Amino acid sequence: MRDPGVPELSDRPDLPGMRVLPTADLGPDGLTALRALLDTAFDVYDDTSFDHALGGVHVLAGPVTAPVGHAAVVLRRVLHRGTALRCGYVESVAVCPSHRGRGLGGALMSVIGRLVRGGYEVGALGADERAASLYRRHGWCPWRGPLRALTPDGVVDTPKESGAVHVLDAGMRLDARHALTCDWRDGELW
Ligand SMILES: CC(C)(COP(=O)(O)OP(=O)(O)OC[C@H]1O[C@@H](n2cnc3c(N)ncnc32)[C@H](O)[C@@H]1OP(=O)(O)O)[C@@H](O)C(=O)NCCC(=O)NCCS
Repeated sequence: MRDPGVPELSDRPDLPGMRVLPTADLGPDGLTALRALLDTAFDVYDDTSFDHALGGVHVLAGPVTAPVGHAAVVLRRVLHRGTALRCGYVESVAVCPSHRGRGLGGALMSVIGRLVRGGYEVGALGADERAASLYRRHGWCPWRGPLRALTPDGVVDTPKESGAVHVLDAGMRLDARHALTCDWRDGELW
C-alpha cells in the first residue's frame, strides 16, 4: 500500500512508494532503520560503508523507519583532465532480500539517474559484480580509463577497482585516455 504522503517517483504502482530525503531528515529512528536494512542486504557492511552513504540525499523505498530499498547520492570531487568535476557518487544501493527481483532496484536507479543527471557533472559508483548488469541497464558504463585517488601522500593509482567503477556522463564527455581521480576518504576509495 502506498504512503499517501509520498510523491510519485515511479510509474510502478505495484512497488513500495519512494521518497528522496537528505540525511538530516531521516532522524535517529530513520538512521537506525536504514543501517538495519543495509546490514541485512549486504554480506559485509561496516561503519565506514555507512559513513560513505551519509551527508547527501537518500532514495528510500517504503516507510522511513522500515525501508525496503535504498540508494544514496553524495557529492564527491573527481579530477578529470585538470578539472574538479562535481560528482554524484552513488552509495549503498540495496533492496531487502524479500523484495528483490521485482524491479525495485531498477526503480531506485531510475530516480538516482535523474538526481545525478540534473545535479552533477558526472556520476560514479563502485559496482559489485552481481549488480553491474542493473547499473548498465540504467545507462552506467564501466570506466575503461586509468583510475587514481588523491591521498594524504599524493596521487596513487587504484587499479584494483578497474572494471568495478561505473560512470554516468551527465554531459562532460569523459575521455578514457585520461585518468579519473577521486578525492580522499577512509575505507574504499572508489
Ligand atoms: C542489487 C540489488 C539492489 C538489486 O535489487 P532488485 O530489486 O532485485 O533489482 P531489480 O529487481 O530491479 O533487478 C534485479 C534483477 O531482477 C530482474 N527483474 C527486474 N524486474 C523483475 C520482475 N518484475 N520480475 C522478475 N525479475 C525481475 C532483473 O532482470 C534483474 O536481473 P539481473 O540483474 O540479474 O539482470 C539487490 O540484489 C541487493 O540489494 N543486493 C545486495 C546489495 C548489493 O549488492 N548492492 C549493490 C552494491 S554495488
